[in-house]
Amino acid sequence: MHTFQQLATAFEKRIQTQSIFPTHLESLYEPCNYFLGIGGKRVRPVSCLMANELFGDITEDAWHAAMGVELFHNFTLVHDDIMDKAPLRRGKQTLHERNGMTAGILCGDVISIYAYQHLAQVKFALPQILQLYNTTAIEVCEGQQLDMDFEKRTDVSLEEYLQMITLKTSVLLACSLKMGAVLGGATEGNAQTMYEFGKNMGIAFQLKDDYLDAFGKPEKTGKQVGGDILANKKTYLAIHARQQANTAQLNTLKALGNRNDMDKVTQTLALYQATQSDIACQNAIQHYSEKAFECLEEIIVPASRKEPLRELANYLLAREY
Ligand code: IPE
Ligand code: IPE
Ligand code: MG
Ligand code: MG
Ligand code: MG
Repeated sequence: MHTFQQLATAFEKRIQTQSIFPTHLESLYEPCNYFLGIGGKRVRPVSCLMANELFGDITEDAWHAAMGVELFHNFTLVHDDIMDKAPLRRGKQTLHERNGMTAGILCGDVISIYAYQHLAQVKFALPQILQLYNTTAIEVCEGQQLDMDFEKRTDVSLEEYLQMITLKTSVLLACSLKMGAVLGGATEGNAQTMYEFGKNMGIAFQLKDDYLDAFGKPEKTGKQVGGDILANKKTYLAIHARQQANTAQLNTLKALGNRNDMDKVTQTLALYQATQSDIACQNAIQHYSEKAFECLEEIIVPASRKEPLRELANYLLAREY
């Protein structure tokens, strides 16, 4: 069995030694290499590998699937940064900011095709793997569209928010884990429980992402300060604050919605705290993490084999970036 750190390091080594992108057509592939090389926690590939190792030694198929999901994730980030007008990612310039909009669009496209190329190398249960991957990829697009639609609305409910983050973020984590399990020969029941574990962990993960966007340290998150607030994103914090606000606070929130300066960020953060939305968000993270741990309990393998996945879930809870 391996720890998160060991698997993340081994995966990183594969990225470096495999030359994921060709060397010709530098204008297309150099930015792809840049983006993949500036880091990232590699949570999805490591989840896939850990789920695989739950049932035996890590298979070559699992490594292909792991590369597939990480490439897909990077494709979504490149396009997400365009949609969110984000200047920074992983403490570095976003791809479209560095190389222009054409590169942003086309590098994203080609990275998503490379994701398929890696997935297609899977030998065991390939139709099932592709079916799961395609369903997930469609759901991520749907979630991203909802995220953008919500920017323009002020009446988004917590229920709608949870559905949106399930689609844009948590299904990919669930898919990564289920792929690892399927490729490890898990029973249908265990594979599905693994999916549910990932779904709950993914919800907690996005809640934490939203929390860090507001209250995290930019030198740790590597992202612009208050990006979600500036874009009028309907995060858990934003929705909860609106629901709890008194008349005066609500008027302030409404007026802030039309602004686009750093004062908007400072004032909104103060309102999040005044309405205890920061605490509510932390509680929600705790709630979905507990649900995830309950799913992990249900998986029928010796308890000691689950230790790395437990460690992974705790790492995601404690993270500051
Ligand atoms: C960021 O994902 C996008 C979300 C779904 C919240 P990560 O936080 O996993 O990003 P990297 O890959 O580690 O940079
Ligand atoms: C991104 O959510 C989800 C996907 C990329 C599918 P965010 O927009 O919150 O992610 P960050 O904060 O930019 O990493
Ligand atoms: Mg986004
Ligand atoms: Mg974003
Ligand atoms: Mg975010």
